[in-house]
Amino acid sequence: MPKDPRLTELHRMRAKTRAGGGVERVARQHAKGKLTARERLALLLDRGTFHELEQFVEHRGDELGVSEEKIPGDGVVTGYGQIDGRTVYVYAQDFTVLGGTLGEMHAAKICRVMDLAVQNGKPVVGLLDSGGARIQEGVRALRGYAEIFKRNVLASGIVPQVSVMLGPCAGGAAYSPALTDIIIMVEKQSFMFLTGPDVIKSVTNEIVDHESLGGAEVHTSVSGTAHLAAASEKDALALARRVLSYLPSSNTGEPPAASASGPDKALEAALNDTVPLDPLEPYSMHAVIEAVADRGAFLELMPSWAKNAVTGLARIGGRSLGVVANEPSVIAGVMDINSADKIARFVRFCDAFRLPIVTFVDSPGFLPGVTQEQGGVIRHGAKVLYAYAEASVPKVSVVTRKAYGGAYIVMSSKYLGSDVNLAWPSAEIAVMGAEGAVNILFRDEIAAAPDPEPVRAKLAADYRRKFSSPYTAAALGTVDDVIEPAETRAKVIAALEALKDKQMPPPPRKHGNMPV
Ligand code: HXC
Repeated sequence: MPKDPRLTELHRMRAKTRAGGGVERVARQHAKGKLTARERLALLLDRGTFHELEQFVEHRGDELGVSEEKIPGDGVVTGYGQIDGRTVYVYAQDFTVLGGTLGEMHAAKICRVMDLAVQNGKPVVGLLDSGGARIQEGVRALRGYAEIFKRNVLASGIVPQVSVMLGPCAGGAAYSPALTDIIIMVEKQSFMFLTGPDVIKSVTNEIVDHESLGGAEVHTSVSGTAHLAAASEKDALALARRVLSYLPSSNTGEPPAASASGPDKALEAALNDTVPLDPLEPYSMHAVIEAVADRGAFLELMPSWAKNAVTGLARIGGRSLGVVANEPSVIAGVMDINSADKIARFVRFCDAFRLPIVTFVDSPGFLPGVTQEQGGVIRHGAKVLYAYAEASVPKVSVVTRKAYGGAYIVMSSKYLGSDVNLAWPSAEIAVMGAEGAVNILFRDEIAAAPDPEPVRAKLAADYRRKFSSPYTAAALGTVDDVIEPAETRAKVIAALEALKDKQMPPPPRKHGNMPV
């Protein structure tokens, strides 16, 4: 024990803060299989690098006098530390203190680290576990959320914002993450919803459980809100570290240099046999991506939602980038409302953080039908057009098979501004597939034939001869090169090297008006 009583007092104050909601509540948190805010930060950050800010802040009472007791730290631990040797600003909500709810001072602490993060060009990682706005603080809590949301928006595109959901996250605790770049959830443990089951029951009489309302399964496969789910807190925090390993600390920095692991040679060689001769037979675009990327360097985002499209972070030749693709093994890789949203937001994310975008194309076009049209597929599809056309980072596209109609145009086509456009010999670039095309173009001729089927078949075969290879498009300069599939990785690496100093300053305007 130190002799100086002032040191003793410091140690007492620190211990009080670090006790969070007290032994009983911490035990309750552990009994649920959950960690405390400080235990989580220790897992997230490099060992011994966490430095706390404003740990002695206390809340200032409340309008209802419910929580009269002074609450050390006001239910959130904030500060800075390091991940893989790079500084990040962090906050971790402490569910053992008033359910991790957000009051005035709690919000002020979060705002403080967000301000520091932006001023210093460093990422913000939030560890969320919160009942949302603290009811007893009324409008002070609401103001707190508004202050955070404003900062989420102003930081967007300047520093990466990662949200790790580690418990029930209600109201503002769900909305703030929705404004961030990446949301990671824990299966069966984290939940995101605007209104909890109790409120829903009192308003609508409906009885729902947390899981079906907003569990990891819901948000990674149905709503498209979260990017990744992990089996445990530890895995979720490790994923947050991994996501950041692909990103620069801010929009003006470079992603960390990675030791380039080579390709998987066997996968790369197999690319020449990937696309089946039968144009209706599916194959895995994931396998193509794995073969082109550095070994083990592809981290798919939103793997369970809109699976007809693929988005993810990767490294090719050691360079961090974003990968976008159609997945022909899922509803033929067709574009639809959800895949459009998934791709558009990811393209903008890459563009904001200066990650080149490599796009693999195999799509028969947009999904036809009343549901899609009434659901606004025009508006949603337009987001992809907007995002690709606006993105000023290096863009490389590889057409592996079908690039029909709208799908050709939206998926990083040359005339939307893609820089290097490659096609495999199996590429088919056309307005639509052969059968659909001849039925429209030669309707009268087919109808007038005594035996229409052979006529239709012959016309379709003629159409295919023209469009089922890339050379008609290549003759017009629509693709820059036709390559052997096994050469793809080398060609992409060369293109990215040639494009690495690309400059495309934005036009002078406040901002465009993207169809959201
Ligand atoms: C004050 C709250 C609270 C809240 C929870 N608590 N939510 N206190 N304000 N919003 C307290 C509980 O009273 C309890 O205190 C402790 O936190 C833990 O909560 P439990 O209910 O025991 O835990 P659990 O069963 O795990 O359920 C957690 C929960 C539930 C799902 C979060 O508490 C819940 O539904 N809370 C209300 C959520 C909500 O509607 N929030 C307002 C959102 S509006 P004790 O002392 O018993 O430990 C909002 C405004 C912004 O956020 C909107 C932006 C668009």
